[in-house]
Amino acid sequence: MQLQPEENARYRRAMGHLLVLYTQVDQFIMEACAARIASAPDDTARLGLAKQVGDESRHVNIQKRWMQAFGVEAEAVISDQSLERLKQVFADLDWVDYLTDLYLVIEALGSQAVEEVVPLTDPGTRESLRIPLEDELDHVAFGLSQLREALAALPPAEREARLQAIPGRVETLVARLAELELPVLGWFADVGCDPQMLVSVLHRRRDALLESLAA
Ligand SMILES: [Fe+2]
Ligand SMILES: [Fe+2]
Repeated sequence: MQLQPEENARYRRAMGHLLVLYTQVDQFIMEACAARIASAPDDTARLGLAKQVGDESRHVNIQKRWMQAFGVEAEAVISDQSLERLKQVFADLDWVDYLTDLYLVIEALGSQAVEEVVPLTDPGTRESLRIPLEDELDHVAFGLSQLREALAALPPAEREARLQAIPGRVETLVARLAELELPVLGWFADVGCDPQMLVSVLHRRRDALLESLAA
């Protein structure tokens, strides 16, 4: 990738923000999963959550090391206050809603967004994302299979009602994240990713996930 000095400065600034964001989100997920272990419905769920806590802490370490090498200003992009509020929101969700919000939205759509950026990144950033993105596939598979199982265990009418409610949940969480007012699409644009293309990829992924859940 050959960038002019000005483009290069813009790229580094935007990639720095995206790396900080990814790290903050991973740390948030790590804490959300840890908080769920005690109330998880069975051993499979408990073990999956515990493994994920380990994975996310490894991701946070990998990313922190890379950000230091890359010379990123490690200033948080999401405030502590917003993170605390979000943690509280997640803590209050029942198991089905927790699985929906964390795995369908944050893990599946979040890592899809990161995947879209990978081909545009510098080699060091790309390497820093390799292990985390491999693990995210596992996390999404775990969360969605738990969600499928939890839905299947409900009486048919309730399962149907929960399924019907999922698109609305996705909208609500996306709106809540939008309230953080992070110029994320601008950062994606500055690293060379077409924001319109990104949004339509995410919509397609969301629709495919919803379809596979209902099947
Ligand atoms: Fe992660
Ligand atoms: Fe993850």
